[in-house]
Order: sequence, then structure tokens, then C-alpha cells
Amino acid sequence: MEQERHAEKSRVVEEGIWVAGEALKKAPDLRGVPTGVEGLDELFYKAEIKDGKVVKKPLGGIPAYAVVNLTGVSDTGKSLMVEQYTIKQASRGEAVAFITVESPAPFVTMSLKERATAMGVDFSEIEDKIILIDAASHASLRENLPNLFATLAYAIKNYKVRHTVIDSVTGLYEAKEMMARTIVRQLFNFMKKWYQTAIFVSQKRSGHEELTAEAAGGYAVSHIVDCSMVLAKELITSRITANLYKKEIGEIVRLFRIDGCRMCGHDTRTHFMEITETGLVKIGKPIGQ
Ligand SMILES: Nc1ncnc2c1ncn2[C@@H]1O[C@H](COP(=O)(O)OP(=O)(O)OP(=O)(O)O)[C@@H](O)[C@H]1O
Ligand SMILES: [Mg+2]
Repeated sequence: MEQERHAEKSRVVEEGIWVAGEALKKAPDLRGVPTGVEGLDELFYKAEIKDGKVVKKPLGGIPAYAVVNLTGVSDTGKSLMVEQYTIKQASRGEAVAFITVESPAPFVTMSLKERATAMGVDFSEIEDKIILIDAASHASLRENLPNLFATLAYAIKNYKVRHTVIDSVTGLYEAKEMMARTIVRQLFNFMKKWYQTAIFVSQKRSGHEELTAEAAGGYAVSHIVDCSMVLAKELITSRITANLYKKEIGEIVRLFRIDGCRMCGHDTRTHFMEITETGLVKIGKPIGQ
């Protein structure tokens, strides 16, 4: 009886079935989007068959149309990296929506301008390509996802936006962390629907294993997104770590790792990272090299 009732209610969701050949026609080409972060673009690659052999070909950036989670504890360089990404896209002539959740738009703009200068880009030439959505100042955006989506869709259509940055998604589920997965899932689906290449910054609590995206943003955000990158900083307190990192006791070492990317091949090593005096993130050599 129970089974019959269930059978009555259920239907075949035909639109949910794809033959791979058909699905492939709708799939975007696998190509890289340069990030504006020195040393990062070379860490993603794809496999190609050349003369019957599989060869590794650099992608030259993060995969286009990927949703990337960029995570780390406070002061690890997440905001700097997404600012560099924003300046890079704008200087390539591609519009970026920058959803700011932590800091009001004028402050972010000041920071973006500084980043442009450090990158040798004239901000006045690209400022029309950067569309700020100020969810820091407006609770009606920060605490109401449908409003945020309507506003972002409006910006995407009107300004031909191809890239979306959110700094940070954690700010969108403040005080309701049990909603984190649902919120990030909806954001992810939105980015896919609108063919955005997106970077979601998420704040990682200290105490979790430093260089994994595990529990970043509270509740397994990394399982939803396509790609996770982790930033860490470590204070050198012992001879062993001092020797390992070739640093002095008392110094800070910054580290970077790609913790997973389901869209393409990638480097899996832990790399040194640097923040220059002008505030630019650079990815260095792998540790132990
Ligand atoms: N303009 C700048 N010039 C030089 N160094 C800077 C500049 N801006 C930031 N930094 C350095 O980079 C570090 C990381 O800054 P960033 O704002 O990117 O951190 P974050 O990971 O976004 O932190 P949070 O989670 O608190 O937002 C700062 O602590 C500071 O040491
Ligand atoms: Mg920040």
C-alpha cells in the first residue's frame, strides 16, 4: 500500500537525464583564467594526448567557470588575493562583481586602487569594470539571499559581469552557521546558472588543521565548491621548523596549498607564500625544495 502510494506520487524527471554526448555540447572548454597572483597560474593543468602519450599542459590560471573557495584564518592574505584577481580581470577588460560583506564599498575601493597601483595598473582605466555590491552596509543584502541574488543578477545583466568575488561568504551566515551549507549551495548554483568564474572567501577558524580546507567556513563548504585553496601562517617557535623552513625562530612563515580541484589537475604541494611590502600575494617554491 505504502509502496503504491509512493509510486503514484513519483514521476520520471526526464529533464534530469543527460546522454554524455549531449551534455558535452553544453559544457564549456577547459581553459585557465589568469589570477594576477604571481606563481599561482602555473599550478593548474590539464592532461592532453600527444603522439599517443598523455602529457601535462599548464592551464595558465584557475579553471574558467569554477567556483573556488579561498580559505584561511585571519590575516593570511585572502582579501589581497581576491583584490588582485579583481584588478587582473578588469585589466583584461572583463567585468567583475565584488560582493563585499566585511568592509563597506568605499574602503574596498580604496584597497582595490592600492592593489592596482602595486600591480602597475592605472585604476582610472579599469574602474568601470568593477561593480561593488555592498552587503557590508546593507543587511537587506547580507541577510536576505533572494535580494542578493536579484541584485547580483541585475548587475550581471547590466554590466556583462563574468566574474564574481564574495569577501566573505562566512559573513553571509554569521550567527546561523547551521545554514552554511545551504547558503553556499545556493550561491554555487547561482554562479553555475550565470556562468560566473567565482571566488568565495571563507574564514577558517584556528584550531582546525592549518593547511586543509576541512571545516573551513564551519560546515564542509569545500565539498560543495569546485576548488579549494588554503592560506596559512605559522610562527617559527622551534629549531626543527626553523630548519625546515630555513627561517629564524620568531619569524612568520606564510604557506599556500591547493586542497583540491575537481575541474582539472593541480599541484598538490605546500608552497611558500609571500606578501610584498606593497601588499601583493606571491606564491613561491614548494617547501622542502
Ligand atoms: N597594503 C598593504 N601593504 C602591505 N601589507 C599589507 C597590505 N595590506 C595587507 N597587508 C598584509 O597582508 C596581511 C593579510 O591581509 P588580508 O587583508 O588579505 O588578510 P585576510 O586573510 O583577508 O584576513 P581576514 O580574514 O581578517 O579578512 C595583513 O595582515 C598585512 O600583514
Ligand atoms: Mg579579508
